[in-house]
Amino acid sequence: MARLRVGVLISGRGSNLQALIDPAAAPAYPAEIVLVISNRPEAQGLAHAARTGIAHRPIAHSERALFATEANAALRQSGVELVALAGFMRILDTSFVEAWRDRLVNIHPSLLPAFPGLHPQRQALAAGVRFSGCTVHFVRPEVDTGPIIAQAVVPVHPDDDEKRLAARILAAEHRLYPMAVRLFAEGRLRIRGNVVEVGGMPTVDGALFNPPEALASAGG
Ligand code: GRF
Repeated sequence: MARLRVGVLISGRGSNLQALIDPAAAPAYPAEIVLVISNRPEAQGLAHAARTGIAHRPIAHSERALFATEANAALRQSGVELVALAGFMRILDTSFVEAWRDRLVNIHPSLLPAFPGLHPQRQALAAGVRFSGCTVHFVRPEVDTGPIIAQAVVPVHPDDDEKRLAARILAAEHRLYPMAVRLFAEGRLRIRGNVVEVGGMPTVDGALFNPPEALASAGG
């Protein structure tokens, strides 16, 4: 069966890009990365694409609309069916977001709608939450909004700093993003308003506690 053709937009390190490239090495994975675009020519992530023989190109227009036009043309030329933002640090022109509506996804390192925008891990620490995590969502014109596809939760530890929390969330991102792309590729997502229904999704049960319940039952 033909695999879903995915284009990835990056700005930097590209560890999420790598996490999307890796499972696609298995022919059974229903998606493949066919084009990587970076708005920064020096982005480390471009090397991941080069190593794997994936078409890649920098598009470094400072003008938002010009970037949108050129990126759009390149993605269409490559027959891209889904665009995945992976650490793409520029706000996209509304024309681009609308052109790819419901075929444009993003990963954000918080449990949206909490902590949108910059430094979400720092925001989580400042708010004193006991859990944070990451979210894959369809993109809408307002930053870090849009129907949520999947989330992963990680605990916040008492001795966390921004770096430690970011690393714990990032490890979850690398598992969540390929899963979300797989669900899209398998045609299992239906968007109803702001809610995404996932076909054949089993119910997740139980509650996580932080501090753990055992702390109280031990009389500590
Ligand atoms: C990730 O935490 C992603 O969620 C956020 O930016 C970071 C990018 O990391 N949007 P990488 O470039 O994928 O390593």
